Amino acid sequence: MSDQIVTGKFPSARMRRARRFGWSRELSAETRLSVSDLIWPIFIHDQPGDLDVESMPNVQRVSINTLLGLAEQAQSLGIPAIALFPSAEESLKDEKGSEAVNPENLVCRAVQAVKERFPDLGVICDVALDPYTSHGQDGVLVDGYVANDETIEMLVQQAQAQAQAGCDVVAPSDMMDGRVGVIRKTLDDAGLIDTQIMSYAAKYNSAFYGPFRDAVGSAPSKVSRSGGKGTYQMNPANSDEAIREVSMDIEEGADSVIVKPGLPYLDILQRVKDTFGVPTYVYQVSGEYAMLHAAAEKGWLDLEAVMMESLLGMKRAGADGIWTYFAKDVASALRDS
Ligand code: PBG
Repeated sequence: MSDQIVTGKFPSARMRRARRFGWSRELSAETRLSVSDLIWPIFIHDQPGDLDVESMPNVQRVSINTLLGLAEQAQSLGIPAIALFPSAEESLKDEKGSEAVNPENLVCRAVQAVKERFPDLGVICDVALDPYTSHGQDGVLVDGYVANDETIEMLVQQAQAQAQAGCDVVAPSDMMDGRVGVIRKTLDDAGLIDTQIMSYAAKYNSAFYGPFRDAVGSAPSKVSRSGGKGTYQMNPANSDEAIREVSMDIEEGADSVIVKPGLPYLDILQRVKDTFGVPTYVYQVSGEYAMLHAAAEKGWLDLEAVMMESLLGMKRAGADGIWTYFAKDVASALRDS
């Protein structure tokens, strides 16, 4: 394709023609952000009230009661799915993250409550031990190292408990090798053949998760004292490795995959979508959310504009859907536009 540009003094190919009017900018838009693209992550705790997450404006840790109200909002706005992240009481944490596999833990009770009232709203659960370990790591420590196979033994029980509680999707975010295959087999053997696995296949060892760790109480300082997450999460320098990770998870039975974080990893998102063509999601993580809010609070950025633009960029790069703490704000903005 080549535009004929030269004709005497003035250009004949004018890109600005289509940009001149609102209607033709709309008509020629290649990508659109819609409410059906959104997954809304919500922090829950086992308290009667709600608590602000300081590093994430407008985000709270909520009670199951408040969660039901948010689920109702999600449903009426048309947001297809919510994702639950627990902030567990310190007294429930231990070295192995045992509370993760308790079929009566906070997450399982929340899933039951939401599915009972809103059976048509998608509910996604995080599979990883970090909300429940005293050291904040996603897995079981053996001699100070997050041990792969011992961790998988916990993760499969965790995923099974969540699926049995009625969640629609389990999303392993732990980055242990081989966990998707073992989780699939365990769910199938238990007759949970329709529970989907959305795998965090390309999850990077990112500093952008800081505010999330505050929100679930697996504080960044705790995690860095216990060695950081670099022995299992991916090195931000790598791209080919993401392709390998994703292909392994698909082989093992993942229904869909996640690239995480979002904005600094759009190249990975595009490669993954182009290479595999499977349902591909991206996670706009807590630090991305905090960053936009912080700049907006200073009056340096227009919050709504950068919120929409950053998510549109993810769609353009190939995302089929986006996990974002802005979900409700985006849905309202789209409704009112
Ligand atoms: C835990 C988990 C994390 C996030 C989602 N699941 C944190 C981590 O890996 O340390 C990050 C989400 C965010 O920053 O918004 N396995």
